[in-house]
Parts: sequence; structure tokens; C-alpha cells
Amino acid sequence: MRFDVVTLFPEMFGVVRDLGVTGRAHAQGRWSLHAWNPRDFTHDVHRTVDDRPYGGGPGMVMMAGPLEAAVNAAQEARAAQGLGRAPVALLAPVGRRYDQAGAESLAAGDGIILICGRYEGVDQRFIDRCVTQEISLGDFVLSGGEIAALAVIDAAVRLLPGVLNDGDSALQDSFNDTLSGLLDSPHYTRPEVYEGEPVPAALLSGHHANIARWRRERSLALTVARRPELIESARARGWLDKADERYLAELTGTWDPASETPRRKRKPARPAKASDAS
Ligand SMILES: C[S@@+](CC[C@H](N)C(=O)[O-])C[C@H]1O[C@@H](n2cnc3c(N)ncnc32)[C@H](O)[C@@H]1O
Repeated sequence: MRFDVVTLFPEMFGVVRDLGVTGRAHAQGRWSLHAWNPRDFTHDVHRTVDDRPYGGGPGMVMMAGPLEAAVNAAQEARAAQGLGRAPVALLAPVGRRYDQAGAESLAAGDGIILICGRYEGVDQRFIDRCVTQEISLGDFVLSGGEIAALAVIDAAVRLLPGVLNDGDSALQDSFNDTLSGLLDSPHYTRPEVYEGEPVPAALLSGHHANIARWRRERSLALTVARRPELIESARARGWLDKADERYLAELTGTWDPASETPRRKRKPARPAKASDAS
């Protein structure tokens, strides 16, 4: 898999290229990273890549020309390597939020060209001509797209076959289908008692089914408290079994022991109509 990054700060990408899990995978040749500096595609002595915004206002805007030339160079380098044209993604707060499904779909392809904006953003004509998708890291504004691009690359690379030491460990992570798309359960390691706090007894029992049930219930409890929409989505996909539904209903006090099912929510009372008064 090949990542091409268009950035004014290529040195920032040493973080994923050289360190940790992604660094090891890079050294093993499982993925490659190529940085393109738009300044190398300028034609003036100052290597200008930005200018004032038309219409006035604060800040500067990245010019279309150097960005488009950098993208073309990246596509040509990919073609020379026998790869097809890559999608071109601009990191932008106005983009679609990056998530685990996005990382999975990226990991299934052969790479992408990531454009890191700076200043107030990039000339819209570059976006219209060259960009196939806009990706946001979340509802906040960074100083530049590099940190967002690093997150995009890291989340995708760790899903590539053979990248994680324990091949199963990505399957146990939050949002994974194997975990029904729920949040991960808490983790503990030695010492068995830390500052008076013991490890939960279920994890010390050695009883695999009990440990699995404990983890599942912690996942359900955490997810219902923090990300209830993930519970709804797991339910809609048929990923919650009877034991899960019972646990969730017990948590919310809606378990009906007589019928052994969650009590149905009462329908809200019909709003009174004017005609009811007569
Ligand atoms: C200061 S920001 C520009 C913000 C832009 N004026 C706006 O309000 O949408 C500079 C660059 O940082 C990157 N960036 C900032 N926040 C981001 C986010 N949440 N996700 C992805 N990229 C982001 C984009 O590449 C953007 O062009």
C-alpha cells in the first residue's frame, strides 16, 4: 500500500514512517510513504504557495497551481510503479468524519493521495479539479492537515495483514464487527492490586466463558453510557443476543422477569386535539 502526502511539512511524517507499529511495518515494506512539498512545484524565487484571499478577510489561502502539480507528480510516480490512479483526499474540517469503516476501506485499497491544508485552507478550484473526497478528523480546527493525515494513515496501516503482532488484536478493538461495533472493555495488567484497587475478580477466574461475559457486559455498559447510537446500530444488525438485551434492560431497569423480555416503552400519550374538548 502506498501513501502520497502533499504537505509543507514532510518531516512531520517521520512519526508514522519510523516509529511504533507503523514504523516496523514500513521497515518490513508492507506500506510506503512519499511526501511531496508544494514548494518544490513553484516557479518564483520565494517558492510561494499561498496568497491573500479574494474578497478580503484574514489569513492566506493555498494556491491551486503548486498543489495540482504535486498531485500530478504523485500520480505519475504511482503509475511508474504500476499502480492505478489514486483517490485524492483533502483533510478538511468540512469533510466527512473519518471512522473505523473509513480506515477499513482505505486498508482494502492500494493507497491514497492525502492533501494537507494550511492557513485558511486551499483554493476551491484545486478542490473542484483534483480532490475526490474530503476527510475530517472531527469537529475541531487544527492548524494544518498533517496531524489528521497521520491519524488517517495510522488507523489504516495497522489493519494491513501482518502489521499487528497478534493478528487478532485489531478484531478486539472498539468499533470492530467482531465486537458488534461496540466500545472496547477495560483492560488490566500486573500488579493484581494497585494502590488498593484489585483487578476485577472475573478476570482472575480463569473461566473463559465468564471472562468473555464480563468483557461483553463492560462493553455494553460503556457503550450505552457514552455512545448509545452504537447500541442501536448493533441491535439493527441483529448483533445483540438475548443475554445482551437482558443485561441492557437490567441496566436501565426495564427487564421484565415474568416475560423474560425487556419491557416495551410506553407509547407517548396522544396530544389532546381541540375536538377532544367538546
Ligand atoms: C486552520 S485550518 C483551516 C480551517 C478552515 N478555514 C475552516 O474553518 O474550515 C488549516 C487546515 O488544517 C486542516 N484541518 C483543520 N482541522 C481539520 C480537521 N478537523 N480535520 C481534518 N483537517 C483539518 C485542513 O487541511 C485545513 O485546510
